[in-house]
Amino acid sequence: MTQLDERDGLESTEQAVAAASRGAAPYRANPYPVYACLRESAPVCRLSPPHGVETYLITRYDDAKAALTDPRISKDMYEAIDQYHTIFGDSSIALDDNMLFSDPPKHTRLRRIINSAFTPRRIESLRPRIQKISDELLDGCSTREPVDLLEKFAFPLPLIVICELLGIPEDERSDVQKWCAVVARTGFSKQDKERLAVAEGALRDYFAELIARKRKTPSDDLVGALIRTQDEQGAMNDGELLSTLWVLSFAGHKTTAYLIGNAVLNLLTHRDQLRQVLTDPDLLANAIEEIIRYEGSVENATFRHALEDITIRGTTIPKGALVQIAVASANRDPEKFECPDNFDVRRPGVQSAHLGFGSGPHYCLGAPLARMEMQLALTTLFTRFPAIDLAIPAQEAEWLKVPFPAFRGLEKLPVALDPSRRLGN
Ligand code: HEM
Repeated sequence: MTQLDERDGLESTEQAVAAASRGAAPYRANPYPVYACLRESAPVCRLSPPHGVETYLITRYDDAKAALTDPRISKDMYEAIDQYHTIFGDSSIALDDNMLFSDPPKHTRLRRIINSAFTPRRIESLRPRIQKISDELLDGCSTREPVDLLEKFAFPLPLIVICELLGIPEDERSDVQKWCAVVARTGFSKQDKERLAVAEGALRDYFAELIARKRKTPSDDLVGALIRTQDEQGAMNDGELLSTLWVLSFAGHKTTAYLIGNAVLNLLTHRDQLRQVLTDPDLLANAIEEIIRYEGSVENATFRHALEDITIRGTTIPKGALVQIAVASANRDPEKFECPDNFDVRRPGVQSAHLGFGSGPHYCLGAPLARMEMQLALTTLFTRFPAIDLAIPAQEAEWLKVPFPAFRGLEKLPVALDPSRRLGN
């Protein structure tokens, strides 16, 4: 047994595999000992998850990085339709006709179109707006009583930003957020699948109606730009456009929201690291990359499937099997990162090494936007509230319990923004 196994009561590899398969609560709260055990003794392991589709989990850094770029491991879900239906029901198909679920040449075509509209200039132009939204959200937070930072700040900030970028009107955003939340939290029971189908149907109808509206009245937002590109170049069909809006709105807020929460929790529980960032603000960019490595908000890359039998470290992933790449585990691999379980805001070279934004063709499209949002959110929060503290003991922080660990994030993050002003002080 490794040291980590002993500390967390894992007695065997079988237990680690079972924990990873079930997604049970203690493992969800702290998956790292399970990953450490798997990296050591079952780096490519077969899981039997509650959704009923056998899946191969890759946990070592080198293997994960190679798998993310391996053309034999496909992202085209239409080629693995039976497995997808079993896991998600058949309602996801229309929403998943986008770059994240395709291989070249379709992926190359779709990504090129988005790149032409999702330009660095468009992203950079959002800076003053992100600052203003951050300030306004914090203006609305009480300093007299504990605040759930996820609800009041971490979620609304990226949601408002992505909705403004796309051109989703203010009074329609809460519906989009509500439907996205159902998709993100879904389990695998019959009721879960029914709820999922309703939310996905609503999202489909909503984006179809939004496109029709913006086609009638052209706009300068991203949806307007994508419609123009589609009309001028004819390079993307209606289903692909709709699905692209969906992936941007979903990936564009959940990931960043959870990452803001993870960042604040870890900085508040590693005060020496927070002090270093506060005294040397130039360190913040590296600190954000270290947070993405140490406790990123994407735990597993999205599903892939094997196009042929693939043998990695002696284990054969059979043709057709689903593949999951545990980027959270790869990012803690001691073969790649020195003392990987230490949170070190000065860690050299972390930005180019971590896999928190993926790697290869599907490398996160929104990484520059996410980095800018993180920078502004954390700077604004810690400048305005330098005494901010957790309002609960750190060990009581509640991690997402969904049995399907795509995201790593908190349910809530109660903080006292200004502990000296709290009622009763
Ligand atoms: C901290 C925030 C974020 C994290 C940790 C993150 C992480 C990731 C990861 C790991 C992937 C690769 C998935 C895979 O290979 O299976 C990915 C892809 C993607 N992300 Fe992000 N993301 C973040 C923010 C964003 C934002 C803000 C947007 C949009 C505005 C976005 C849009 C996308 C898209 C469209 C893809 C698919 C790219 C492709 O298939 O070519 N992400 N992201």
